[in-house]
Amino acid sequence: MRTIFLHLHPARVNEASIHFNRTFGLGGMVALLIVIQIITGILLRFYYTPIPAEAYNSVVFTKNQVLFGQFIRNIHYWSGVFLLLITFLHFMRVFLTGAFREERKINWLFGLVLLLLIVLLNFTGYLLPWDQLAYWAITVSTNIIGYLPLVGESIRTMIIGGKELNADTLRTFFTFHTAVLPFLLLLLVLYHFWRVRKAGGILVPETVEKPEMVPTMPNLVFKEFIVALVLIAVLFIFAAVFNAPLLEKANPSYSLNPTKAPWYFAGVQELLMHFHPLFAAFIIPISVVAFMAWIPFIKYDDSPNGHWFISEPGRKSSENTAKYAAIVTLAGILFNEYVLNFEVLLSPIPAFISNGILPLLILIGFMAGFNKYYLKKLSLSKAELVQAVFVFIIVAFIVLTLVGIFFRGKDMALTFPWNV
Ligand code: HEM
Repeated sequence: MRTIFLHLHPARVNEASIHFNRTFGLGGMVALLIVIQIITGILLRFYYTPIPAEAYNSVVFTKNQVLFGQFIRNIHYWSGVFLLLITFLHFMRVFLTGAFREERKINWLFGLVLLLLIVLLNFTGYLLPWDQLAYWAITVSTNIIGYLPLVGESIRTMIIGGKELNADTLRTFFTFHTAVLPFLLLLLVLYHFWRVRKAGGILVPETVEKPEMVPTMPNLVFKEFIVALVLIAVLFIFAAVFNAPLLEKANPSYSLNPTKAPWYFAGVQELLMHFHPLFAAFIIPISVVAFMAWIPFIKYDDSPNGHWFISEPGRKSSENTAKYAAIVTLAGILFNEYVLNFEVLLSPIPAFISNGILPLLILIGFMAGFNKYYLKKLSLSKAELVQAVFVFIIVAFIVLTLVGIFFRGKDMALTFPWNV
């Protein structure tokens, strides 16, 4: 065991890097969840049949007839959800401690690819039960691709292997979910770990001249063990109390109302309610991803210091940006829903302008105004300014996602969660 751990970690680590509030053990949790996903996935695979006529019944059989079948299925489902949520938190922790610059920038980029792979793993797994929820969620999500001008329809047809979901779609999703994506994920995770070691471990604030180095075993490994036990306990409680959803068998001629995309695409689906599809499904999401990939390459005037939020003004500006972003996003949703719809109001103008360029310019105007009247007063450094933009985007995304999941009901109208 000692040798295995010492392959993952150096023999000694900086004492400051193992304080819990440095990383919250998030990266380690993600690694553990990947292992749990693989083990439970293999167990489920013994009974699952990836053809539309049998997939649903094979899941029902696993759930009702196989010893611990329901429990294993629940663990697989919940660890998939946790995996995405905790990877997202890890991504935010890395950013907010400034650990994405200089020798860590390549790892940041590979981290973004890992995040994408985890979204795709969740997405391809979503279809496998072949129930109403799976069928219609994947139908609306893949329909979004069709909004891309000129090539959208062809790409969509290529991904699902036809005009609507069919046996080829299920086979393709199954193969990606159980072979292609896990293989790529494992490969990249190993590379990711290697780069963390190559960068000299976790970024820590330089408070003392000579850092105190302590043996990894037991100092770090013991803490990792505790985090792992707590995570497994929480996961098992979730799996014991909440069953993974399973509606009736997929029925292509009877759609669900509301038809919602999987929860992690609820933010994009919410954007589609307010923006022209080209903006909601492509221009905005692609710009956000491009921004995330670009931030390590911006020229900053200082070096990363490893402090949460960089500095006191950095913390204050992030806090107020978060509040501002939440209010602007919520107000924008309500305004567009109940007060004014640009597409209807300016109907002779092409929707691409009235419902795309115009609201986007208004949103950028709100960000610029905030910069001019508030952020400038704090005389932030470039890194602190980029941090404020990051916080704005993340909070807006979270608000859109929460509204999409909890506040959209029949016909996708706004409603309260208890009416959804
Ligand atoms: C499969 C997904 C991932 C796994 C298993 C993973 C695992 C880890 C682990 C174990 C660490 C060491 C410290 C810690 O626990 O935080 C780490 C550090 C790091 N991760 Fe990840 N990670 C994943 C995804 C990501 C993502 C999505 C990003 C960002 C886009 C990212 C960027 C980084 C960077 C830059 C470091 C170095 C941080 C520092 O030096 O403080 N990782 N990762």
